[in-house]
Amino acid sequence: MTSTQRVLDELAPPSGDFDIDVLDAGVDRVLALFRRLHDEGALPPVLSQVPPGAITAQLAATAPAAGESLATILADVERIIVPGITHWHHPSFFAYFANSSSVPSLLGELLTSGLNANAMLWVTSPAATELEQRVLEWLWTAMGLPDAASWFGIITDTASMSTLLAIAAAREATGLDIRQRGMAGRQDLPVLRVYCTEHTHSSVAKACITLGLGSDNVVRIAVDEAYRMRIDALEAAMAADRAAGMRPIAVVATVGTTSTSSIDPIPLVADVCAREQVWLHVDAAYAGVMGIAPEYRWVLDGVDRADSVVTNPHKWLFTTMDCSALWTRHQDVLRNAFSLVAEYLVTARDSQVVNYMDYGVQLGRRFRALKLWMVMRAFGTDGLAARLRDHCAMAREFAARVESDPSWTLSAPVPFSLVCFRYAPPGVSDADADAANASLLSAVNAAGRVYLSHTRLDGRYVLRLAIGNILTTRAHVDLAWSELQRVVPRTA
Ligand SMILES: Cc1ncc(COP(=O)(O)O)c(C=O)c1O
Repeated sequence: MTSTQRVLDELAPPSGDFDIDVLDAGVDRVLALFRRLHDEGALPPVLSQVPPGAITAQLAATAPAAGESLATILADVERIIVPGITHWHHPSFFAYFANSSSVPSLLGELLTSGLNANAMLWVTSPAATELEQRVLEWLWTAMGLPDAASWFGIITDTASMSTLLAIAAAREATGLDIRQRGMAGRQDLPVLRVYCTEHTHSSVAKACITLGLGSDNVVRIAVDEAYRMRIDALEAAMAADRAAGMRPIAVVATVGTTSTSSIDPIPLVADVCAREQVWLHVDAAYAGVMGIAPEYRWVLDGVDRADSVVTNPHKWLFTTMDCSALWTRHQDVLRNAFSLVAEYLVTARDSQVVNYMDYGVQLGRRFRALKLWMVMRAFGTDGLAARLRDHCAMAREFAARVESDPSWTLSAPVPFSLVCFRYAPPGVSDADADAANASLLSAVNAAGRVYLSHTRLDGRYVLRLAIGNILTTRAHVDLAWSELQRVVPRTA
């Protein structure tokens, strides 16, 4: 028995924690799992192949009364848990948008766990608060956006939460005192409306549901042929709503929509919002980071005129789940929406510092800034831009392949690293092509070598290949294409 195995085999002492040196052995075992994804010869299936309930069936129904050794538990992680993992960090993960990781981020996450800081008040970890402020200034500036000092940044767990905070701020900015008086039973309150498109992420409707605005008041504005918000339709919808006595409070425009990565015309939306005095929230959860590459900065044109902006380092900036960056020009409004300070949380520093608990739903907050700081330092903005740019180039190459094959068709423009495409041989009806694409997708994913997803565009079933993992190379994208070719004859 090796000494590593021996320390892992020891049971917990009668009181207190395990010996800290156990970590050396444990971390080695944990890293072995990550290492497989860096080893072409040892890649696991990207999509977990287990049927529903298979994991539960292997888990004890109750917690053990007597402690078990970490060796036993880690063995069960490998035996029971890992087969039920879909590997988001796998180089052939092309489904959804990536939740990519990287070695610097993994180290940062380990440190976050080891330090176990709670970034709720400045005083409960000054470094956590000050690093969060500074790294969000870095990211804002790195994305080519001006005047970082005028923007207040906060890290949340997800874009869904960031957007919830942004729409809460928009509601607060109405001056209707909803925070204090609520919305129910108020004769003085008009119906409040939020505008987006059918391609806007569902997190916007969820935020409106959560905030009591109601999903009926999420107005879906028509899109153009490239799935971008139509300004004439936005203006018309707002005018009709005002005429009906309703009050527009926010527009959510997207840079990189979920289905197709389309880019709403932010400068024009910003003009409308300025004229109508409504809050503009920009959802750049996926594609905002592309601004780090100077030749892509145009995609963020007008974003500096927004009231709030979200982008997710945990999607396409090689930062482990979870890490979403929210910025607003109206720090005071966000604070007014959420600040509620119980006596036990009052500190002598309150007038001098940011206490992040004042700007959101949570009191306790993870120290997420650390991993983002480590990623930005370790790769540098040039290194990040090079990787993002390469992903976009790979997507364009894949799109060219699709276009050159008469049996396949490109379903949307490819501004970033997402390709929407469809198997549609001449003479095949839309309905038959829909069925063929659905079975193609399940056949490819079941094989486990690559993982793709789908969406519907203009009613048609469309495949999505999204590149965003730091380990992805052209060979992996080639594999996706050959996997599709392999299953076409059998399924179509
Ligand atoms: C454009 C866009 N916004 C928001 C989200 C939600 O992100 P999160 O999972 O961080 O809440 C997504 C998820 O894919 C997205 O594509």
